[in-house]
Amino acid sequence: MEALSTRSEVVDGLGPADYARLAALLNGIVGIKLPPSKRLMLEGRLRGRMRQLGFTSHSAYCDHVFNQGGQQEELPHLIDAVTTNKTDFFREVEHYRFLHDTIVAELLRLRSRERHPEIKFWSVASSTGAELWSAAMVLDQLAADTGQFDYALLGTDISTRVLEHAVRAVYAADLVQPVPKAMREKYLLVPLKAGHHPTVRIVPELRQRASFARLNLMDENYAVDDDQDVCFLRNVLIYFEKSDQEAVVRKVLGRMRKGGFLVLGHSEAPVGSGMGLRQVAPAVFVKET
Ligand SMILES: C[S@@+](CC[C@H](N)C(=O)[O-])C[C@H]1O[C@@H](n2cnc3c(N)ncnc32)[C@H](O)[C@@H]1O
Repeated sequence: MEALSTRSEVVDGLGPADYARLAALLNGIVGIKLPPSKRLMLEGRLRGRMRQLGFTSHSAYCDHVFNQGGQQEELPHLIDAVTTNKTDFFREVEHYRFLHDTIVAELLRLRSRERHPEIKFWSVASSTGAELWSAAMVLDQLAADTGQFDYALLGTDISTRVLEHAVRAVYAADLVQPVPKAMREKYLLVPLKAGHHPTVRIVPELRQRASFARLNLMDENYAVDDDQDVCFLRNVLIYFEKSDQEAVVRKVLGRMRKGGFLVLGHSEAPVGSGMGLRQVAPAVFVKET
């Protein structure tokens, strides 16, 4: 008979005091709001990491975090636990339509003196890359159709785990259903031998246009080129305090060209008001100054 598993189970919950110190630490570093109502969420999300390290108690794990060297070791895991990485290909699809129908043409008009301008696209909180690759498909298709421009892609996020996924660019086949059929055929590689969980991979032609880097939006300065043309800053501001939301928008604008397009998530759109922005479509703004 096989030996029974000896894996220890977690014996306590995340108490309010331990939650408060973790929430203060994470809010200070990542900017994410962690009200008391999120305690159970964090408790559940920490379990995997605790098991990995052999901790059976949340309070012992918290002591470990706050012991010397513990923060440095645990911070990436805590950030993974506290961030919500939900994303989709062609999420809020009208933004991709607007990119295709309006944004690129307008950018080319502004830069009509340049022989073959390079359009820079930045997915500011890229998560696993679905947003960046969706834009890549639109830009690549337009670049091929018009022959008028080149493009470069940048994805940034605070979580190294999602960035690794974005670089690998391998996705479960059912996740790419929103990708239009012609684009699926052109930009997704299907393995010759499909396993139990079929996957696809973004083609090398798009992968070589993209770079990904870790960036904490709470940082004072963003180490990003200051001539970005199109910035998708979607579905991340909602996690921050109002004052941090505005500061982040200003810092992103600081990395953009005049005349560039800032695209927010639909629920975040009011954030852009009073910042030298002109709204041109739902949640889409032009940087005017
Ligand atoms: C819900 S996802 C949004 C992904 C994508 N923009 C979209 O709309 O589909 C939010 C992303 O923001 C990232 N994030 C949260 N706080 C951040 C911070 N302080 N700096 C950079 N990225 C952060 C998370 O890691 C997560 O991947």
